[in-house]
Amino acid sequence: MNTENEVKLQEQYIKKIKEINNNKNLKYTILTMGCQLNENESEKLCGMMEKMGYSKTENQNEADVALFNTCCVRENAEDKLFGELGELKRLKEQNGIIIAIGGCMMQEKHITDKIKTSYPFVDILFGTHTLHKFPEDLYKSLQEKRKIEDILDIDGKIYEGLPIKRNSKIKAAVTIMNGCNNFCSYCIVPYVRGRERSRNPRDIINEVRELAKQGYKEITLLGQNVNSYLRVEKEKGIEFEEYEGVNSFATLLRAINKIDGIERIRFVSPHPKDFTDDVIKAIAECKKVCKLVHLPLQSGNSKVLKEMNRKYTKEQYLALVDKMKNTIPNLTLSTDIIVGFPGETDEEFEDTLDVVKQVKFEQVYMFIYSRRVGTPGDKMDNQIPEEIKHKRFNKLKKLVESQIEENNQKYVGTLQKVLVEGQSKNNPNMLSGRTDSNKVVIFEGSLDLIEKIVDMEIVSEHMWYLKGKIKE
Ligand code: SAH
Ligand code: SF4
Ligand code: F3S
Repeated sequence: MNTENEVKLQEQYIKKIKEINNNKNLKYTILTMGCQLNENESEKLCGMMEKMGYSKTENQNEADVALFNTCCVRENAEDKLFGELGELKRLKEQNGIIIAIGGCMMQEKHITDKIKTSYPFVDILFGTHTLHKFPEDLYKSLQEKRKIEDILDIDGKIYEGLPIKRNSKIKAAVTIMNGCNNFCSYCIVPYVRGRERSRNPRDIINEVRELAKQGYKEITLLGQNVNSYLRVEKEKGIEFEEYEGVNSFATLLRAINKIDGIERIRFVSPHPKDFTDDVIKAIAECKKVCKLVHLPLQSGNSKVLKEMNRKYTKEQYLALVDKMKNTIPNLTLSTDIIVGFPGETDEEFEDTLDVVKQVKFEQVYMFIYSRRVGTPGDKMDNQIPEEIKHKRFNKLKKLVESQIEENNQKYVGTLQKVLVEGQSKNNPNMLSGRTDSNKVVIFEGSLDLIEKIVDMEIVSEHMWYLKGKIKE
């Protein structure tokens, strides 16, 4: 069956479940772990659930279905699921709640084995390649009252036209490619997400146009390696239709930049090795593309980078940063860093600190190396003791925080364009929004400013947010 027919088949299951549920006002909870890609897929799961007649609740006690969309990129993501499952046993016994677990963790056999033996009350297990089939899985679980396991170990396909219920009315994530071919030696993603595959330009452009029509202002393009969009297709001679001149990541940015109504374009994550000049030029020339670029470093030491299979050296990374800063006015950068990769010495770790000092990132997402079963990193015999990993992490954190403080001070007194997202979570009397460089700004203002871009003067800085005043 082709993917279009597979999606149509699922629409039939959606209808069947809606009939069975028959306006009974059933409810579901969803817990999403992991990256923005998972968040976007959860929006699709929510879209399916709502079409089947379920409405979302935050209260597990009143839920008929509890959904989990899992992540396995680090150990603490996995621990979270097992903590939750312990809690759910009671609810299962009390009111027969249906428990469905999907996402990246389900692509790992040792995890599904553990769930089946230690948490046998779980009803549905589904993987990353079968998310579109959730209505069928739920239908079978409800009708046939049996456990469902729907997990495939394949390269993966693209399914267009799934229902979607988005979390925000102004910011939307648009997945442009899925899977990864890079096999960084610490990373589990290629094993649980399959090989790189890109969506057709036409499908992406049409989705963004539709979002613009609905009033969305900010688009984040998602993929494990966004700047190799359409690369595999070209290399392998897989046919794709060029649409609005889109045949690469750079041309995709340019095409989306032209869509009326969209005001900001972001993307995560690019890989430094694939950051070609045409992409740098497109970022510089496209007004709507935000000048904050996420450029994952992972380590600042060339030997560690080689062991990580990142395919660039410290010098190449720094040269790329220089080139980008010289070509893109007002560019700021954020990054991901792993400390304590197997074999990393104190000296090698100092190189990471050195790059952080030189680049002065706007934001650094810091991670302690976590062994992942099945990756080359896990088999290396020179693992770093936990204590040393934590020491390095704290040292990096201190440096990063001092840089953020210093950087925040530069904002005070400047004018910023702020996309107003809503009332501040911590103080409902204030509004909250974000700058082009993704800094949170809190300010006083009337509710009708929500969803608008407002000119603002930054009046003070506070580690994780800035305070602003609307420019009269
Ligand atoms: N595809 C993206 C991000 C993948 S996962 C990229 O290449 O940048 C997000 C981040 O998690 C990675 O950038 C890395 O910093 C971190 N990460 C991945 N595997 C990890 C592991 N085993 N231990 C610790 N951090 C890890
Ligand atoms: Fe993981 Fe590397 Fe692929 Fe990113 S590029 S998902 S870190 S293997
Ligand atoms: Fe986690 Fe899967 Fe994303 S492992 S980081 S949810 S691709």
